[in-house]
Amino acid sequence: MKRRVILFCATLVSLAARTAAAGDSPDLAGFVLGSACLTCHAAGGAIAPLEGREAVGLAEQLDGFRDGTRAGTVMPRLARGLDDAQIARIAAWLAAREVSR
Ligand code: HEC
Repeated sequence: MKRRVILFCATLVSLAARTAAAGDSPDLAGFVLGSACLTCHAAGGAIAPLEGREAVGLAEQLDGFRDGTRAGTVMPRLARGLDDAQIARIAAWLAAREVSR
């Protein structure tokens, strides 16, 4: 079950990444990629909410998951599918969002 959830999310993120790579505007790319994160990181949920957090900190954490300096179960797999530009767009989009409660 857990494996299926991970596979589903990885598929979602990779689909989103492909859409975003298709030359859309940065905001659209941030939306497409970032909204996939909120499936797990919704405000008030069990996993750390991300909306409204500092973009620099978010990008650093994603970078850490990607290069293995930060441990995790789900996030290292997701982060490995993102390039620097995508991380920057996601972080900016999440940081600009009002915290929805
Ligand atoms: C399938 C659920 C899931 C999805 C989708 C997901 N995350 Fe996570 N996230 C987690 C879990 C679980 C953790 C705790 C670390 C771990 O076990 O990987 C986490 C941790 C994090 C953290 C560290 C939070 C903290 O305060 O320590 C950040 C930042 C983060 N995720 C960003 C993202 C971003 C950005 C996306 C979208 C690209 C995303 N996550 C998508 C489940 C998810």
